[in-house]
Amino acid sequence: MTSAPTPMPAPDTGVPCDPLGPLKDREQVAERLLDASARHSFDPDTELDWDAPLEADKWFWPPELVSLYDTPLWRRMPLEQRQDLARHEAASLASLGIWFEIILMQLLVRHIYDKPVTSAHVRYALTEIADECRHSKMFARMIQRGGAPAYPVSRLNHQLARVLKTVSTTPGSFACTLLGEEILDWMQRLTFPDQRVQPLVRGVTRIHVVEEARHVRYAREELRRQMVTAPRWERELTRISCGEAARVFSLAFVNPEVYRNVGLDKREAVAQVRASGHRREVMQTGARRLTDFLDEIGVLRGVGRRLWRSSGLLA
Ligand SMILES: [Fe+2]
Ligand SMILES: [Fe+2]
Repeated sequence: MTSAPTPMPAPDTGVPCDPLGPLKDREQVAERLLDASARHSFDPDTELDWDAPLEADKWFWPPELVSLYDTPLWRRMPLEQRQDLARHEAASLASLGIWFEIILMQLLVRHIYDKPVTSAHVRYALTEIADECRHSKMFARMIQRGGAPAYPVSRLNHQLARVLKTVSTTPGSFACTLLGEEILDWMQRLTFPDQRVQPLVRGVTRIHVVEEARHVRYAREELRRQMVTAPRWERELTRISCGEAARVFSLAFVNPEVYRNVGLDKREAVAQVRASGHRREVMQTGARRLTDFLDEIGVLRGVGRRLWRSSGLLA
C-alpha cells in the first residue's frame, strides 16, 4: 500500500489562517473576506486559455487520486486506459462539484433571506454566490473540453439533496457546505501544482483553490457560531444530517459509470475500490482537516459520529 500524497502548502489566498479561538465578529469576518475577494477573484472565461490544444500524455487528474490507483485491476491496465479513467473521473468530480455548488447557492440565498441587506455578511454571501456561478460554468467548460460526459449523481441522491436544500436549517447547511468543499479542495491542492496534469485542469483547480479558501473560512466561522448559539435539538439534528450527508457523499463521490465507460467491469472495479487501502487512506487524509474541525466544535458525537465512521471518511 502506498501512502496518501501530501498537498502543496496553500497558495496565497489573502485569507489569514483559522485558529480555533473565541467567536469572531460576524461583520468583521465578512469585511475581511470581501477584501480578499476584491484582491483575488478570477474570471475563468478570460483567465484560462480554453482553445489551447490538450497535451498528449498528460493526465486529467493525478494518478494517485484516481479511485483504482494501486489496485490489482490498476496494475493490469495499460497506461492509456489509466489516463482515460483519470479523464472520466475528473469529469465525474467536476459534475459532483457543480451539483454541490448549485445546492450551496440555494442554501446561501435562503441563509440571507431575512438578514439585513446592507450588512457585510449578506454582501459577502452574494459575492460567494457569484464565485460559485463562475465555478460551475468553469467546471462545465472543463468537462466539455476533456471530451468525457457529465456524470450526474443517482436519481435517489438528486432527490435527497432536493429535500436537504429545501428544509436544511443553517448549521446543517454550513456543515454540508464544508463536506462538499474541503475534500475536493484537498485533492485540488495536489492537482494544480502537478506538472503531469493538463495545463487547463491545473488552471481550473488553481482558481478554485484560491477562491474556495474564503468559502471554507466563511462556512467554518458560521458553523462554529451556530454550534454555540443554536438550540439543542438543532445541534443534534446537525450531527445526524451531517453524518448522513458524509455517508451519501462517500458513495456518490465517483460515479461508477466511469468504469464501464473506459471498458472495465463496473462491479469488479467498485469492489476493488472498496477494498483498496490506498483509497481509504486518500479519502481519510482528504477529510482529516474537516473531521478534526468538526470534532472540535462538537459535530462528531453520538449517532452522527457512527454515520461518519460508516462513510469510511473517519478512521
Ligand atoms: Fe466553488
Ligand atoms: Fe465554494
